[in-house]
Amino acid sequence: MCGQTTGIMAELNDQSSVLKFLKTRKSGSAKALGPPGPTPSQLGEILDIAVRAPDHGKLTPWRFILFESEVRAKIGEAFAARWKVLHPGHSEESLVFQRGLFLRAPVVIAVVSTAAPHAKIPEWEQLLSSAAVCYNIVLATTAMGYHAQWQTDWVAYDTETSAAMGLKAPERISGLVYLGTSTVPLEDRPRPDAKALLTRWGA
Ligand SMILES: Cc1cc2nc3c(=O)[nH]c(=O)nc-3n(C[C@H](O)[C@H](O)[C@H](O)COP(=O)(O)O)c2cc1C
Repeated sequence: MCGQTTGIMAELNDQSSVLKFLKTRKSGSAKALGPPGPTPSQLGEILDIAVRAPDHGKLTPWRFILFESEVRAKIGEAFAARWKVLHPGHSEESLVFQRGLFLRAPVVIAVVSTAAPHAKIPEWEQLLSSAAVCYNIVLATTAMGYHAQWQTDWVAYDTETSAAMGLKAPERISGLVYLGTSTVPLEDRPRPDAKALLTRWGA
């Protein structure tokens, strides 16, 4: 009996800490994400959690590309080269920024949507599923005590740059999720008032 109560209490405590986590979670800013980042085994865990995202039709319409260590500088060269072409009047400063885009955090995970026409499942729903994957990465990383930010940026929308990152048309980037440890205290932002967004049908 006592053991049973303890079990229920433990479950309740656990539930309230999950709710507290969800109520207070906030992103770190990619520009302030230094080491440490998740270890290889933690990264595996994060991806295992990511793939638990709801997925209508069990199509797994997404995949991951990992950027860590020195490849972050290598892809930065591709970003800078493309930036030069797209912005003929570019400043040297902007090139330095583009080179260092992925160097801002120890780990960057590109979540790639592989959504495609399907007889039963609209592409829209496949894209929504990839968004849930991105958020699962943010949640798992934050729950481990690290910080994360889900970004996209121009590199996600430029076809040539996406190809340089390893995408094959018509794949699209749903998120570039930066993982690390914030070097500055996290600041919350004003949150929408959920009640103000709610209407009751028929009222
Ligand atoms: C699809 C998507 C793309 C985003 N892209 C960027 C981005 O490129 N740059 C950026 O600063 N924030 C971007 N954000 C916003 C951040 O992920 C995050 O919401 C913001 O930093 C506020 O933090 P919060 O998670 O604590 O609300 C994006 C969010 C989403 C959902």
